[in-house]
Parts: sequence; structure tokens; C-alpha cells
Amino acid sequence: MLDWDTLYAECMSCQKCGLAETRTNVVFGEGPRDAEVMFIGEGPGEQEDKTGRPFVGRAGKFLDDMLAMIDLDRSKVFIGNMVKCRPPQNRDPLNTEQEACIGYLRNQVALLKPKIIVCLGRISAIKLIRDDYKITKEHGQWVEKAGIQMTAIYHPSALLRDPRKRPETFEDLKELQSKIRDLCTDTY
Ligand code: URA
Ligand code: SF4
Repeated sequence: MLDWDTLYAECMSCQKCGLAETRTNVVFGEGPRDAEVMFIGEGPGEQEDKTGRPFVGRAGKFLDDMLAMIDLDRSKVFIGNMVKCRPPQNRDPLNTEQEACIGYLRNQVALLKPKIIVCLGRISAIKLIRDDYKITKEHGQWVEKAGIQMTAIYHPSALLRDPRKRPETFEDLKELQSKIRDLCTDTY
């Protein structure tokens, strides 16, 4: 396992998959190094690729609003992605790309030791929770893996596309809020 700074440096110059060729910036993810809650999306979009920061485009603004509904500020949580470089035209990251990249995320998890991981959308839920995960049926359910409480909610982009999914996501967020109150310390 690498320490945070070494891991960061390694990611910044990573060439382990084809996405290295088309990226502008590697999006390492951001948040406090003792964050108790991690949100994991799919992969950087255009704005993220341009800025090197996760969830700063339209979906990111919506994620901020979702967090605000449960009195969470993005500065208190870690926000990252399954792959750290932008897939061209925002296509889903290939399994080979996710496999190439996931070691970095695992290293980040090992260093942060979060209490809670929230998968944003099906891509990260399938990779991190179960490979036959059904987001429409299972969003908001909780499982424990290696001592970490894990759940998945709809991706903010899906909620932007389909407002009908918002009420159930609000319920999921309320559950998340109560989990945080149960498990996390006074930073929340
Ligand atoms: N969508 C994602 O999955 N991740 C981002 O960082 C931005 C948009
Ligand atoms: Fe490396 Fe991940 Fe970027 Fe692929 S997506 S080049 S594995 S950092």
C-alpha cells in the first residue's frame, strides 16, 4: 500500500489504461484524509477532465444539492470515481479500464478507512457491492463489507434526466443521514 502522497503522484502520471491517451487531467478525488464517508461515481466528465476535480459539472452541482438536503457539505466527505480519467464522450468505463484503475481506489479506501461508502449509480455499485447489483431495485439498501457500511443511490445524472426518481432518492438520503449520525463522529 502506498501513502497518500506517493499514491497521488503515481496516479497523476498513470498510463495503466487507454484513458490516459485522451485525458486532460487525472481526477484523483478530493476530501479530508480522515473522511468517514466516501461517495464514488463513475468517471470524470468534461468539466472534471478540464479542472482535475470530481463532480464539478452539472451532475456535481446536483450532488451538492443532494448533500445539502441532509446537511452535508462536500468539504466533509471524500468524493471520487471508479476510473480517474475521462472516458471519451462520457461512455461507461470499460471493465478493463475499471480493473486497471481500481487498485488506486482500494488504496484510497485503505488509507481513509471510511465508515460508509456510497456508490453513485450502477457502475460503482456493480464493481464495489455486487456484480449483479440492480440499482432500480436495490438502491438505498445497506450491506456491510470488510467492516464498511455500503449503499448505492441513483447517480445525480440519472436524477437530472428523470426527476421521478428523486423522491425515492430523498428517502435514501434520509437513511444515509441517520447512518451517519449513528456511525460517524462529531465532524457531522
Ligand atoms: N459523473 C461522475 O460519475 N463523476 C464525476 O466526477 C462527474 C460526473
Ligand atoms: Fe490510470 Fe485509472 Fe487513468 Fe486508467 S483511468 S490511466 S488506470 S488513472
